[in-house]
Amino acid sequence: MTVTIVGAQLGDEGKGGIVDLYGDAADVVARYQGGDNAGHTVVHGGEEYRLSLVPSGAIRGKVGVLGNGCVVNPQTLFEEIDRLRERGLEPDVRVAERAHVIMPYHRVLDGIEEEAKEDDDLEAGTTGRGIGPTYEDKVGRRGVRFGDLLAPEVFRDRLNYVVPHKRTLVEEVFGMEAGEEFDIDAMFEKYRAYGKRLEEEDMTVNAGEFLKDRIEQDERVVLEGAQGTSIDIDHGIYPYVTSSNPTAGGACTGTGLGPTVVGQGEIVGVIKAYLSRVGTGPLPTELEGDKESKQLAEYIREEGGEYGTVTGRPRRVGWLDMPMLRHAARASGFTGLAVNHLDVLAGLDEVQVGHAYDLDNGTVDTMPTTTERWGQCEPVYRSFEGWPEADWKTVAEDGYSALPGGARAYLEYISTELETPVYAVGVGPNRSESIVRVRPFE
Ligand code: IMP
Ligand code: MG
Repeated sequence: MTVTIVGAQLGDEGKGGIVDLYGDAADVVARYQGGDNAGHTVVHGGEEYRLSLVPSGAIRGKVGVLGNGCVVNPQTLFEEIDRLRERGLEPDVRVAERAHVIMPYHRVLDGIEEEAKEDDDLEAGTTGRGIGPTYEDKVGRRGVRFGDLLAPEVFRDRLNYVVPHKRTLVEEVFGMEAGEEFDIDAMFEKYRAYGKRLEEEDMTVNAGEFLKDRIEQDERVVLEGAQGTSIDIDHGIYPYVTSSNPTAGGACTGTGLGPTVVGQGEIVGVIKAYLSRVGTGPLPTELEGDKESKQLAEYIREEGGEYGTVTGRPRRVGWLDMPMLRHAARASGFTGLAVNHLDVLAGLDEVQVGHAYDLDNGTVDTMPTTTERWGQCEPVYRSFEGWPEADWKTVAEDGYSALPGGARAYLEYISTELETPVYAVGVGPNRSESIVRVRPFE
């Protein structure tokens, strides 16, 4: 059986914590898209682990798989694995032979292209990890895949074809100098060494076959999405999006498991109790403008530690956006919800929610298809009574009914609007600070 974990908003909903929670009962945790643009923090045995590629389950002895839908920087991957080993862990990580390799020139191009877009306000505020350029090459049929790192002649041919292209792009189109990141021989040596290490440590797999075999042996598989629905390349706020599909369809194409397999399992949408955003683009429920809103944003940012895991950038903050969530619930077909960071809002007199949007003298309850139209939406707010601070550890121990009444009303509103039950509630960063109502593997 599979449990798929999907971000319902703009990324950073706390998926890592939920994967960690449900991954406990799992045997395998597989990521299906994205790369080291993701960042998740897992607290285990009092130690904090910040990971961007290694699936969170791998620190608890589960098999971690990076599916074919991922783009993987082998340097980051090995650095992360080595750091975990130094801390006494032995993570078992497998990489799909069909996954694409982030090459040094991809990172360079990420920076150059973002800069070029700045004058037209089209930059997405990327994480600079080369994600977009790598997916571009995948779709452009000139990418390098992990399987190629194992086959020196094929790898050499790929580089011989693609690198001159990239060089020309940098020099002739952008009028810049192409540096060492465009040196075929140096790249060949370095990346062949990664290929050898992958072979020595028996790390590469046919992800679809590998996962299917595990499922047939009645093993439990978590499919872990990175980023979130509103920065999905198809369903997000284009062009301020990432270049992959965090929505549940990506769990099929990004692993090699069929929709009927994924659909027999559960699909849990992870929601942060408010909004946070790294990167550019409109955000109708953003807390900004007047002094009071800015102070509130500042307060939530500090309470929630809303600074990017990967880039350290302060995140923009806003109220929960229900049209965004309705869109997410439909696009992925959520069977359950996990609502995180409820503790962060504690102590406020009032909590607001963007229930719908005013647009062109009418009301809409889901996101418009274009980002420009979304930017014209004025939220129609609903106000909820705040809830007090609590001893969240005790609340988590005592369960759902121990939550303050205001918090429960808030959760029930979300659940009713999305016609989906709340499976879990996060009231703190530690795993013990979660209320678990449904364990999908049990
Ligand atoms: P990229 O994925 O680095 O290409 O960045 C594209 C957009 O997605 C930018 O707006 C990033 O800020 C955003 N983004 C990428 N990864 C994450 C994430 O893990 N959490 C939140 N936002 C992300
Ligand atoms: Mg994150």
